[in-house]
Amino acid sequence: MSQELLVLDAAFVEKHLDMKACVDLMTETLINVETGEDVQYLRKAIKMPNDNILGLMPGYSNAGYFGTKILSVYLQNSQEGYPSHQGQILIFEKEHGQLKGIVDATSVTKLRTGAVSAAASKVLANPDSSKLALLGAGEQGESHLQALLIQFALTEVTVWDRDFERAQRFAERESTKQQIAITACPTSQEAVQDADIVCTITPAKTPIIEAAWLKPGVHINAVGACTADTRELATDIVQQARFFGDNEESVLHEAGDFLIPLNDGAITNEHYLGTIGQVMQGTVPGRLTKEDITVFEALGMAVEDLAVANYLCQLAKNQQE
Ligand SMILES: NC(=O)c1ccc[n+]([C@@H]2O[C@H](COP(=O)([O-])OP(=O)(O)OC[C@H]3O[C@@H](n4cnc5c(N)ncnc54)[C@H](O)[C@@H]3O)[C@@H](O)[C@H]2O)c1
Repeated sequence: MSQELLVLDAAFVEKHLDMKACVDLMTETLINVETGEDVQYLRKAIKMPNDNILGLMPGYSNAGYFGTKILSVYLQNSQEGYPSHQGQILIFEKEHGQLKGIVDATSVTKLRTGAVSAAASKVLANPDSSKLALLGAGEQGESHLQALLIQFALTEVTVWDRDFERAQRFAERESTKQQIAITACPTSQEAVQDADIVCTITPAKTPIIEAAWLKPGVHINAVGACTADTRELATDIVQQARFFGDNEESVLHEAGDFLIPLNDGAITNEHYLGTIGQVMQGTVPGRLTKEDITVFEALGMAVEDLAVANYLCQLAKNQQE
C-alpha cells in the first residue's frame, strides 16, 4: 500500500522547526551515530565543470528511515542574492523503501548546522561563556547566533565578514531581532580577541584566525571550510587545541583545518581526539581545564538532515490527522 508523499517547503520548515527542539534533536543524533542507531556514509561532493558543487549526502537510521540530501553549492551566490546551498532531502521509510517525504534542504541545512554547533559548544565550551564571535555574516551567522543564544547567557556578540558593510548590516538587523548588542568589527582579530566562543562560518580558503589572537579557554566551532584543501584555522591553533570532529571519516578525508597541518608535518594523527558524540557519551574526555582551547570541526552529516526531515514529516502527518 503506497503512502502519501509529503512535500515540505522552506516556509513549513521555518515555521515548525523550533531551534531549541532542533538543538536537542542534534544532540540525540550525534550520540546515535556512536551507538550505531544512525549510520553515516561518506558524502560525495562532485565538482562540476562550472566549478560549483553537486553534493550527495546519504544516511540511515534504525529509527525507521533512510535517504539522502541532494544539493548544489554555489558559494558566490551570496553576492547575487541567492542562497549558497540549495536542494532537497529525500527521506524513505525503511520497512518497504517507500519515499515518504521531500523536505527543503536549504532551510534545514541552515538551522541544523547552527544547532549542531550549539550542541557541541554545550559540552566543549566553558559553561560561563558570555562573549560570542561570529566570523561570517551569512546564513550560518544567523543560525549560529540563534542557536548559541539558547545554550549560553550571552552578553556580547562581535561579527566580522570579508565584506565589512555586510557585517554592519548583520549587526544592525540581528541585534534588533535577537535583542542583544552586536558589534561589527573591521578585522577578524578584533572580533575574536575577547571571545569565549568563536564560530568560523565563511567559505575562506586560507586561515582567518591565528592562536595569538585568542583568549585562553576559547572554544571554536570550525564550520565553514569543508574540503581537504581549504581551511579557516591557522596551524598554531590546531597544534594547541583539543581537536574534535563530527565524524572521524569526514575529518580524515575532508577537513583542511586538520589535513593541511597534518600533511605539513605540524601535527600527527593523535591530534584528532574523537567525535563530539563520544564526548557527549562520556567515552572521550572533552575539555580538561578552563584554559584549554577546544575545536569542534563540523563537516556536516546527512543523518542530521534526515533526523530533522523525519521530525518534520512526523509533525506534518500529525497535523493532517
Ligand atoms: N559544516 C557544515 O555542516 C556546513 C553547513 C552549511 C554551510 N557550511 C559552510 O559554511 C560557510 C558559510 O555558509 P553560509 O550559508 O553562511 O554562506 P553565505 O554565503 O550565506 O555567507 C558566507 C559569508 O562569508 C563571507 N565571506 C566569503 N568569503 C570570505 C572570506 N574569504 N573571508 C571572510 N568572509 C568571507 C561572505 O561575505 C558572506 O557574508 C560555507 O563555506 C558553507 O560551505 C558548512
